[in-house]
Amino acid sequence: MPKTTVRAGSNIAFIKYWGVADAAINLPLNSSISMTLADAHTTTTVEWDQSGRLAEDAITLDRQPLTGQAAARLARHLDRIRDLTGMTWRARVVSENNFPMAAGIASSASGFAALSVAGCLAAGLNLEPGALSALARLGSGSACRSLFGGFVLWDRGDDHETSIARPLFPPDHWDLYDVVAVVSRAAKTVSSEGGHRLAQTSALNACRVAQAEQALPLVRQAIAERDLAALGPILEQDALAMHAVMMTSTPGLFYWQPGTVEIIHAVRQWRTDGLEVYFTVDAGPNVHLMCAAEDAPAVQTCLAALASVQDVLVSRPGPGPLCSEDHLF
Ligand code: DP6
Repeated sequence: MPKTTVRAGSNIAFIKYWGVADAAINLPLNSSISMTLADAHTTTTVEWDQSGRLAEDAITLDRQPLTGQAAARLARHLDRIRDLTGMTWRARVVSENNFPMAAGIASSASGFAALSVAGCLAAGLNLEPGALSALARLGSGSACRSLFGGFVLWDRGDDHETSIARPLFPPDHWDLYDVVAVVSRAAKTVSSEGGHRLAQTSALNACRVAQAEQALPLVRQAIAERDLAALGPILEQDALAMHAVMMTSTPGLFYWQPGTVEIIHAVRQWRTDGLEVYFTVDAGPNVHLMCAAEDAPAVQTCLAALASVQDVLVSRPGPGPLCSEDHLF
């Protein structure tokens, strides 16, 4: 059985996935839309151990052997592939991110997308893209969107088979940039997995879900027309609504740091000054700034002047998962 290596991009959501209708299968409360990233990706090599010598899955992430809960989460995902194929072999998995894991870019999205594709191909299992998207969703919700390149819609669906992502527009449709301002590298205290279960404890949640569903066709149209002036206010509103839900859950989640607020104020001022840039924030303190390719250098220059910005990562829209012969072991 061949060793298989796959590279998958992370993604940034314009309409967020927050809250689960069924936590067991990461069935979301609302549909979401994202852009797959070219320059923030995970490469994963998988080999199933036919010799039967491996007693358990051997997983290395960013050159460190993975242990504890993180290893168990990946082993559970490998179990799903074992269940689909009926095989019992353990796997050797080596995975590398090209971006720091705590940089506020979803490493689990690219990670579970790469693991799903590499794991299935290495097992000789050729699932169609929708089934692969559903499989990746079981590992990490947002990973189902990283199964496709460019601009992607995840249909909320009703069950495991129908809650899948599909591509809306290819990566070269729009050269939109994601400039990520890193204000903290600390690992988050509450995982997204835990947070999704809390969403429905917020009185604001039902409003956000309704607003998100209404915004989807508008976001889709703004992307179709490459209209940042239409897209920007909607993505800011949904990010703020999601954080309002987080903050008002029981217990409340507060992912922002002072630097997050500094950047949000600065972005509003830069827009007043004529720079077309909008912000979104995932489940962490770091801020993603969306702008046209030609404005990305100016956005980076503006960010460099802010005391709270520790690092800046820049990404364009990228492709779906790609196979490679450059195996990691
Ligand atoms: C805030 O459950 O996909 O990024 O598995 O921890 O990466 P992890 O998170 P996941 O939730 C992502 C939530 C979000 C919004 C989004 O990407 O839609």
